[in-house]
Amino acid sequence: MERYPLKEDIWWVGAIDWNVRDFHGYETKRGTTYNSYLITDEKKTLVDGVRNGFGPEVLRRIGNCCDPKTIEYLVVNHVELDHSGSLPWLIEKLSPVTVVTSKRGRDSLEQHFANEGFAGWDIQVVGSGDELSLGKYTLSFLEVPMVHWPDSMFTYVKEAKTLLPNDGFGQHLASSKRFADENDMNIVFEEAARYYANILMPFGTQIKKTLGRVQELGLEIDVIGPSHGVLWRRPEDIERIIQAYADWTEFEAEPKVALIFDTMWKSTEKMTRAIEDGIAQEGVRCEVHQLGRTPMADVALAVLESQAFLVGTPTLNNGMLPSVGAFMTYIKGLRPKNRLVGAYGSFGWGGGGVKQVNQVLEELKLDQVDPLELKFIPTEDDLSACVEWGRSVARRLKQTAEADAKA
Ligand code: FEO
Repeated sequence: MERYPLKEDIWWVGAIDWNVRDFHGYETKRGTTYNSYLITDEKKTLVDGVRNGFGPEVLRRIGNCCDPKTIEYLVVNHVELDHSGSLPWLIEKLSPVTVVTSKRGRDSLEQHFANEGFAGWDIQVVGSGDELSLGKYTLSFLEVPMVHWPDSMFTYVKEAKTLLPNDGFGQHLASSKRFADENDMNIVFEEAARYYANILMPFGTQIKKTLGRVQELGLEIDVIGPSHGVLWRRPEDIERIIQAYADWTEFEAEPKVALIFDTMWKSTEKMTRAIEDGIAQEGVRCEVHQLGRTPMADVALAVLESQAFLVGTPTLNNGMLPSVGAFMTYIKGLRPKNRLVGAYGSFGWGGGGVKQVNQVLEELKLDQVDPLELKFIPTEDDLSACVEWGRSVARRLKQTAEADAKA
């Protein structure tokens, strides 16, 4: 199978998963890749494994570069199963091989593979600043806890100026082309943003620290080879994706409102359309997503890209509609910051749905507008109140933008 050169004697030898559509709840409409990198230096080294079942694809690609049995090191940057699921199989095929990982990586490998041969694996623990000479190339390691798990680590190939940051800078994007610039860049950046929104949003503080650390170390970067999706090699693309990460960690977003709702008998939908109208009257952009119809991953992306999001629900059995409840659970885990938020919706007799949404929004400690709740079918006056509610949210956004511009 084809292998792809990144630099002299550095190869992409990963696996393409065209058909995955659910990545722990994240709808991966364009599939993904699991990226492994092979360095055919004096000491041959494989960086990162792949998901269980994709090992044979990797082994065939390695076989186009070298005898797999001549590989001395297998670097494990991160133990989540999309990268380590194949390890027991792969290690058996490569053995003898030394597994190079962080202390937390070692512990995590033991917890995952105690029943699959871990006790027999030769492990070399490395930490931030440690180096491993392969011959002409030197690997330098940087532990980056919570980018995406406590065990996460970056591997930097010094002389090749190649950063292998595992989940960092990735996208769930299957492609027959390996480099970002060989693909539609609008799609690449859209998928990079969707990936950040759904996988990395809760870890912005740690990611910001990591970006600072990379800057302090003065790492020169010619190529970024993430563990998912396509690789970054043009200087302008590398600069853009690093800047995008810096902006996302700060929750920088467009002055735009995302209306996220579901409806039972169309009352909350009517409210949504009136609120949308009010926002538009103020000249502020708005996008509307009905839960259950729009994939949750897309709704999370809308939250990343909008300065405000408003959540609409009818009341069912004194609570939120289940689709809204699922979204509130998801967004609570993603922990967005620096957003203007609000709850709205309709009810028949006792209410309760809007109250529940509002409670979750309060827990997120975001800037909140007063909720808007209406009984049964909205009257013309009710709809006028919705328009005004939308206008007031839009005005708040504009005031914030004006204050920011003056600051
Ligand atoms: Fe791609 Fe956190 O695994």
